[in-house]
Amino acid sequence: MSDWLYSDTVKEHFTNPRNVLLEDESSFAADARGQTGNIKCGDQMLMLLQIKDDVITDVRWKTYGCASAIASTSMLSEIIKGMPIEQAYQIKPEDLVEKLGGLPVNKIHCSVLGDKALRSAIDDYLAKTGRTGMLKEAATEICHCLGITDKDIEAAYRNGAHTWEALQQATKIGTVCGGCKEQAMQLLHGLEHLYS
Ligand code: FES
Repeated sequence: MSDWLYSDTVKEHFTNPRNVLLEDESSFAADARGQTGNIKCGDQMLMLLQIKDDVITDVRWKTYGCASAIASTSMLSEIIKGMPIEQAYQIKPEDLVEKLGGLPVNKIHCSVLGDKALRSAIDDYLAKTGRTGMLKEAATEICHCLGITDKDIEAAYRNGAHTWEALQQATKIGTVCGGCKEQAMQLLHGLEHLYS
């Protein structure tokens, strides 16, 4: 279709996704398992990792998400092979969007599923090896005027701030120059997929 808004890389990963779990989970001897998503809106992601000496050696994943979730997780599954878990833990949706040559703005939130499931799998591995909480996701500043990060927004969302107005009341975000609204809205939309 000539009017697709997706980059060639996105289309290629969507039509030929890498490292998908095709059979049941027992077909892949995983050292770690992560699952995330919101059953109500149909987005769910399972990620299985094989890890040796704290380096990811192989991965399988499965999702009920959309084309953007599939393409971004396929890309993610390629880049984390051979990567130390500390480095993989810090991968952000923006990194995947860049590698994919962009995503339509209203689809960027779909790429949050993969990196959340990845962190959940690494957390599982850390728990199994007696190191619960050893890695923390670095926060990204969303509102530069007020120093409000993605973690602050996630915390506010989990406390009930599900709209831009509620988020502003809770954090004052966007009340100086307003330039952070679009990115914050993307984040809110992504959080809906994870928690609503
Ligand atoms: S960047 Fe958020 S108000 Fe200016």
